[in-house]
Amino acid sequence: MTPTTKLSCRNVWKLYGPNAETLLAQNPNPSADDIRNAGVIGAVRNANIEIVEGEIFIIMGLSGSGKSTLVRCLSRLIEPTSGEVLFDDADLLRASEKEMIEIRRHKMGMVFQHFALLPHLSVLQNVMFPLTIQATPKHEAEAKARDVVELVGLKGREDYYPRELSGGQQQRVGIARSLVTEPDLWFLDEPFSALDPLIRREMQDEFLRLQERLHKTIVFITHDFEEAVRLADRIAIMKDGEVIQIATPEELVMNPATDYVAEFTRHIPRSKVLTVGGVMTVGAAGEGEPIVQSTRVSAVAERIITADAPIPVTDGKGLVIGAIDRKAVAHVLFGEGDAV
Ligand SMILES: Nc1ncnc2c1ncn2[C@@H]1O[C@H](COP(=O)(O)OP(=O)(O)OP(=O)(O)O)[C@@H](O)[C@H]1O
Ligand SMILES: [Mg+2]
Repeated sequence: MTPTTKLSCRNVWKLYGPNAETLLAQNPNPSADDIRNAGVIGAVRNANIEIVEGEIFIIMGLSGSGKSTLVRCLSRLIEPTSGEVLFDDADLLRASEKEMIEIRRHKMGMVFQHFALLPHLSVLQNVMFPLTIQATPKHEAEAKARDVVELVGLKGREDYYPRELSGGQQQRVGIARSLVTEPDLWFLDEPFSALDPLIRREMQDEFLRLQERLHKTIVFITHDFEEAVRLADRIAIMKDGEVIQIATPEELVMNPATDYVAEFTRHIPRSKVLTVGGVMTVGAAGEGEPIVQSTRVSAVAERIITADAPIPVTDGKGLVIGAIDRKAVAHVLFGEGDAV
């Protein structure tokens, strides 16, 4: 089955400054120098992205690289200077403001970088809020809100106020609020960045559990490659407004397109990123309980290293496609030494 594209953007530019539109009208593909010389800020430069139904698509890059701007262009909270944004094949840039509001209310969920709960509303009322705006009947809104509050692990705290919650709990309320309208497309802009590392990992695990149940199409921004590796199906790396590379975490580590990409991936242990399928010997035979090819090497390294023989590797359907031995694992764990 070929994956369905849910959301795509083509040649999207967002330039800030009085000459932005004139510049693009005169030159549809200006270089960084052209942009600077025109006194314009290139927040997003010629972005082309296709996001597939049901995937977690991560956008990474240093501060100021254009991540939030790009994601806001995708929901038209920011109007792109030029380009196309297609959602279920409909051109969002041609939708009227009224249609856009409907699409955002019913089909898009958003958790913002600096989101705020309404301080004078309880957890339940905060979560119900988007439904209240949609004029959903109260009993229906409340029932839906109770369901998502439970889903994010806050059952029992429906009547608390935001000030009575920890940072992580507040973030869960924000997540519940963004899910209550059952969006197809879920945008999250650094949702866990303000949390301390332990809570952050917990939230990541919970996020993955949620996604297993909900199968949303997700666009998720983060600064943190480790977070990206844990969550992503694919990652787009941005620099100075440009999308430099789009790839799986494994491909980014194995074949970084530029030094900038390599720099992002450098501090991550390779065993946490590389999969068994990526380093196995194709077609080789093994012994014992097989390992699925998508398993990360770190999860099975000890078993492979202490096994007497190579272990068979299967594809997603249980078919044996090769084997992995301790040499391959040692190579992932310890690299090739200083000689390289
Ligand atoms: N309204 C605006 N007017 C002018 N420049 C802007 C505006 N909004 C954003 N920019 C510029 O666009 C660039 C991209 O900003 P953006 O907020 O998208 O970055 P980001 O990658 O999300 O950064 P961070 O990780 O800090 O959130 C920055 O240089 C920023 O200063
Ligand atoms: Mg941002």
